[in-house]
Amino acid sequence: MEQKNKREMFSTGFAIFFATLGSAVGLGNIWKFPYLLGTNGGGAFLLVYLLCVVLVGIPIMACEFYIGRKARKNAVGAFKKLKASKGWRTIGFMGVASAFLIAFFYSCVAGWVYSYVFKAIRGDLVGVTSVTAKSKFMSTLIGPFSPLIWQLIVLIVVSVILIAGVKKGIERITKTLMPVLFVLIIICDIRALTLPGASQGLKFLFHVDFSQLTGPVILAALGLSFFKLSLGMGTMITYGSYFTKDNNMIATSIKVALSDSLISILAGIAIFPAVFSFGMKPSEGPGLLFMTIPLVFSKIPFGNILLVAFFFLTAIAATTAMISMVQVAVAYFSEERGMGRVKSVLFPTSIMMIVGILATLSADPTSILSNIHVLGQKGFFDSFDYLSSNILLPVGGLLIAIYVGYFAKKEDFKLELSNQGTLNNDFVLNIIFVFIKYISPLLLVIVFLNSIGFIKF
Ligand code: PHE
Repeated sequence: MEQKNKREMFSTGFAIFFATLGSAVGLGNIWKFPYLLGTNGGGAFLLVYLLCVVLVGIPIMACEFYIGRKARKNAVGAFKKLKASKGWRTIGFMGVASAFLIAFFYSCVAGWVYSYVFKAIRGDLVGVTSVTAKSKFMSTLIGPFSPLIWQLIVLIVVSVILIAGVKKGIERITKTLMPVLFVLIIICDIRALTLPGASQGLKFLFHVDFSQLTGPVILAALGLSFFKLSLGMGTMITYGSYFTKDNNMIATSIKVALSDSLISILAGIAIFPAVFSFGMKPSEGPGLLFMTIPLVFSKIPFGNILLVAFFFLTAIAATTAMISMVQVAVAYFSEERGMGRVKSVLFPTSIMMIVGILATLSADPTSILSNIHVLGQKGFFDSFDYLSSNILLPVGGLLIAIYVGYFAKKEDFKLELSNQGTLNNDFVLNIIFVFIKYISPLLLVIVFLNSIGFIKF
């Protein structure tokens, strides 16, 4: 990474692609995507999700890259630097708030994944059945100490990496381990597809039943597309600020969005055949990943080694995604609030740990916190998730689209995304701009109005 005005930069297009993919690929693909798809009716949810990625996700990612690389600043500072009126900084503040809300529950789930690495190493998951797989997951949730210690370990790892500033090392790890994760998921897929009754799982995943599409389901798919692609909260503004001048950012958005969606679908192909084959329900909820993957690897040669590798790589993917999320808060505290390197990391991560306790203990069925409702029937864990993914990120995305579509100059947008006219992509840019100005905001508003019951379709 070359030093330039004291700001780090990614060195090559290859590094940019992998770093951005490292932010996008995480628990969202392997844990959240299958579990939401399972609780929201399968194929129809997948279809809406993919539409959201193409119609909203890619255009908004391009906007974030544009803002970030042009300003070369964090999510709050970028709007200042671009001389946007003060109100636009709200996008940055909302982004910092989202980083906290997501980290509260993300660190908890990452903690479960870390603990599964050790369970697999100890051989605890050898020979599990659908009944024991479930009870092993439930025991992971039981606190107070064990899940909190794992959550603390996750936050310590993230803090140490951010303080040490070994981003370059992380990039190298992502570059090599991401393809390995990909291969492992494919092995999982092959195994899952050869299970008896696998076709039922595929049918659940790919058969579109339009009667499943209610307002809340569509909002959940939209929220997931933002969460998955790390959009609407300034992560991609911050990453864009480290991009090289010659990166083709439209191509990067498309490649990252498609690769990320592919990995999610492959994770679905690994999980749903197993769900049906082992007589479980797709609507099992947040434990779905933890209950099925040990079963997929049971009874195959080297199954336990593959299981260790699978959870280890998932832990790394979760950690790199989390680093990009926490980085939004860290960049804000260090660049806008003048905190030093160590303080700008430890201040937010300590708050994440303290408030994150609420998320972790609310997931423990034996804890009194599990009975507390925060938003409607939702406990702390689900409320943090709902507020960030389904509200703050899409609203952030809407504001970003409005800013670029109506307040930034179209010519300026095109100049930045064509690398000052050196890329021959005028046609694509015009199309993307139509999306940013009309289609994406309109879709976002319609989904919101529909989910609060204001309009019905
Ligand atoms: N995209 C990440 C994942 O799928 C989560 C994330 C959300 C990361 C928002 C950064 C910002 O796991």
